[in-house]
Formats: sequence, structure tokens, C-alpha cells
Amino acid sequence: MNALSLDTVVLSKDALEIIILDQTLLPGEIKYLHLSKAEDIWEAIYALRVRGAPAIGVAAAYGIYVVTAQLQTDNMEEFCNYFEEKKAYLDSSRPTAVNLSWALNRMGKVVAENRETMTVAQLKERLRQEAHAIREEDIAISRNIGQLGFELLHHGDGILTHCNAGTLATAKYGTALAPIYIALENGWDDLHVYCDETRPLLQGARLSAFEMQTAGVDTTLICDNMASITMKRGKVNIVFVGCDRVAANGDFANKIGTSGVAILAKYYGIPFYVCAPTSTIDMSIATGDDIVIEERPAEEVTEAWYKKRMAPEGVKVNNPAFDVTDHSLITGIITEKGIAYPPFDKAFERMGIR
Ligand code: MRU
Repeated sequence: MNALSLDTVVLSKDALEIIILDQTLLPGEIKYLHLSKAEDIWEAIYALRVRGAPAIGVAAAYGIYVVTAQLQTDNMEEFCNYFEEKKAYLDSSRPTAVNLSWALNRMGKVVAENRETMTVAQLKERLRQEAHAIREEDIAISRNIGQLGFELLHHGDGILTHCNAGTLATAKYGTALAPIYIALENGWDDLHVYCDETRPLLQGARLSAFEMQTAGVDTTLICDNMASITMKRGKVNIVFVGCDRVAANGDFANKIGTSGVAILAKYYGIPFYVCAPTSTIDMSIATGDDIVIEERPAEEVTEAWYKKRMAPEGVKVNNPAFDVTDHSLITGIITEKGIAYPPFDKAFERMGIR
């Protein structure tokens, strides 16, 4: 089995349900959930059953379609009010990845542009098509990112990645791991991948290591605090990470711990690349200071993955799920439209990102 063959999120054939791979059970169990209620889709995103910025966007697009398609009405105003209510609800499931609101707003635009000219039934069908388009585009975008990232690699390279920005985090291929899939397609069999385990939810250990190992890549799992010695030992030639939101100046939010990796890479002189679709670039915010950082339950730190609670009862716990990496630490941002190099504001302008 190759993780690349697993669908992260799709629409059922009868278009009544969204089908997601429950990533909380990986790598031990491969189980698909069939969801049609807004509350269940919200919970699946909140609980990271579907996770990774682009995959969350696809889930939200299919989710808003599936939920609103169930409303039995021919009244356009009633449909639009219901759509707005459910859109705001799904948008509240997680705050940091911009792809969630990006995808929901794109679906909202379809409603706004067609509500005067279409029947409710026609609009529902148009929403289904738009959600499919978001998924299909994500696959093509990830491949482009993969191709551009692949061109930066050399035979025998060691690549360090943090969290999971692979096929499981997107519709297919991923962003940070896409260059490795493209390398495999090109017959390369001599790359080495170092996966940070990524405390506290272990996306690196459970997901990236699973993806890379099942794809046949030489994969080594390290605890987050081993990145420094791994770099010092000369094992890492390049760092590829994913991203949840990029600000106009290039600061970006990604899984907690990413900024530490970037600081280490700078210290050891290792190129540090962010891999992100342009939909992850949020030009409405000037710097990373404006990015909302999701705070998650303390139990993820004190209990998850341990047979019994390992931290003293009552101890204070911080659990920010993301951190912001300063743009000065980034070598380049690999998007489907090309690689942005500093200064990022000018690069984004040249790429037509507004
Ligand atoms: O909390 P998660 O697992 O959704 O966090 C995911 C990440 O931080 C990824 O690196 C990011 O979403 C990019 S996925 C292509």
C-alpha cells in the first residue's frame, strides 16, 4: 500500500455525503467516514480527522455543498440565508489555515453571482461543480509545487520536513512532500527524508513518516528536539515545510515548531523553503503578527499518546497549534505559479497575487 493511493477527501458518488479518511487513526487503521451533517463536518475539521490547509479547504467546499443541498426549498432567499449560516458555522471550526475561509468564500461567491439568475436546484448543481473544481485544482497545484521543488533537489539529498504537508494534507501529492513524489516519478531512489515527529499531535510521526515509508523513500523519524543535531551532522541539505497562512511580507504560520526549524536552518546555512498554494497567501494581512493562532486543549499535551496522564494534575499548559516564522528566515516560497524569493512583497506583486 502506498499512501498516495488514499483519497483524503472526496464526494460520494450520489453526492449526498463527504467521505474523509480519518487521519486521527493513522497509521494503524485506514477508515473512511461518511459525513453529511454540518456538526459532523465541523467536528471532523476541529478534531483533525481531516487536516492540512488545502485538505481543510476541500472538505469545507464539499461540506457546505452537501449540507446546503439537503435544504428542501425553491425559495432563493431562504436558501441563501441558510447557506450563509452554515458557511459561518463551518468557518468557525479552525482559525489559522486561510484555505478554510478561502474555499468557503469561493463557494459564497458562486451563490452571490448566480442567485438572481438561477433556480435553487441549478445553484446547488453549480456549487457541486465548484467544490469539485477546488479539489481538481488542488491536485494540479500540488503537482506544480512538487515539480518546482524537485528542481531544487540533488541526488542523495537529505530533506527535513516538519508536521505533514503531504498527500494527506491536500487532495493529492501535498506541498512540502510533493517534490519527493515527483522525484520518485523521475526514478530517483536516493533521497533521505527526516520527519520531525511534531509534538503534540504527531503529524510527522503518524502521517509524514507513514507517507514516505509507504512510498518507498528512505525515511528517518526524529523527535523535534533532534533537528539541531541532525543538521549539525550534515544530514540535511534542504528543508521543505508546508504553510497555513502567509502574510503580505512573507511571514508565515505553520505547525508549532516550524519557526524553530527555520532558525536552526539559518544557523547551519541550510536552505529553508515554504511550499504553499497561492490560495494560502493572505494579502489582507501585512505581517505575521495579524495571524490568529489556534489554541488547543491542554489534554493534547498532557495525555494524548500516553497510556496514562504523564504530567502533574493542575500544571499550567500552553498548547498553541501554530507559530509564525519571520520572513527573514525563508529562502523561498514555492507556489504553483513559481518560486517567490525575497523581498516577498515585490515577488507576490510580480506574480499577480493581490
Ligand atoms: O494542525 P494541522 O495538522 O492541520 O497542521 C497542518 C500544517 O501545519 C501543515 O504544514 C499545513 O497545513 C500545510 S498542509 C499542505
